[in-house]
Amino acid sequence: MSLLHVDIASAGYGPVTVLHDIAFEVKTSGRLVALGANGAGKTTVLRTISGLTQAQGSITLDGVELVGLTPHRIAAAGVSHVPQGRGTFGDLTVKENLLIGGNRRPWRTVLAEADAWMERFPRLGERSSRPASGLSGGEQQLLAIARALMAAPRLLLLDEPSLGLAPKITTDLFATLDELGRESDTAMLLVEQNAQVALGIAEDALVIESGRITVRGPAADLRDNDDVRRAYLGV
Ligand SMILES: Nc1ncnc2c1ncn2[C@@H]1O[C@H](COP(=O)(O)OP(=O)(O)OP(=O)(O)O)[C@@H](O)[C@H]1O
Ligand SMILES: [Mg+2]
Repeated sequence: MSLLHVDIASAGYGPVTVLHDIAFEVKTSGRLVALGANGAGKTTVLRTISGLTQAQGSITLDGVELVGLTPHRIAAAGVSHVPQGRGTFGDLTVKENLLIGGNRRPWRTVLAEADAWMERFPRLGERSSRPASGLSGGEQQLLAIARALMAAPRLLLLDEPSLGLAPKITTDLFATLDELGRESDTAMLLVEQNAQVALGIAEDALVIESGRITVRGPAADLRDNDDVRRAYLGV
């Protein structure tokens, strides 16, 4: 069963077309990673799903057409987006960031879940009333992910969570993502340049080059693909 069906003829920014004939699916509770170099169009794919760029084509989540909906309605339909770079509000406290993430749900649930996140990740708990900007890069990324999950999404979009993080921090963050994915039925669409860690937690994968999909298949097969290995695994 697929949750998300993407069939985009084209998408981009005003007169600039960035994506061409991008079609793929994300299974219910599945995990898909999209690899690609700088400027390949990875962020644009996520922004198009979230309704932040203009697209021709169709994107459905559980049968609901998302193309043409506002970003607000797409989020309400069950899509949470952790953007590239800072996915947190630096001036707000750690707890406020979490509370904002759950804004469409009953207040009691939101409070309880924010507390649960801070208990689970003590570094967030210790800093609950401090500005999020004081957290380390890895902690901020974790907070951004927790904030997105506070909305209880059907689909979590993650834009290069490893960006700017040290290798050890990246490995830990992906282990946490793997764990969170196993615990919930939230599907994940992850875009990454770090193929090594991303392929390790995904079932399916594809490669985007110059706005087109050039390779796709099970993540394990892409790990063995010579072109992918040379371009994205450095081996
Ligand atoms: N707001 C914009 N207006 C016009 N062109 C844009 C805009 N944002 C991105 N682009 C162009 O779209 C193309 C794809 O950009 P995108 O950000 O999707 O790539 P990416 O794969 O996410 O790259 P990176 O790994 O550097 O984040 C690039 O050529 C970029 O210059
Ligand atoms: Mg990007």
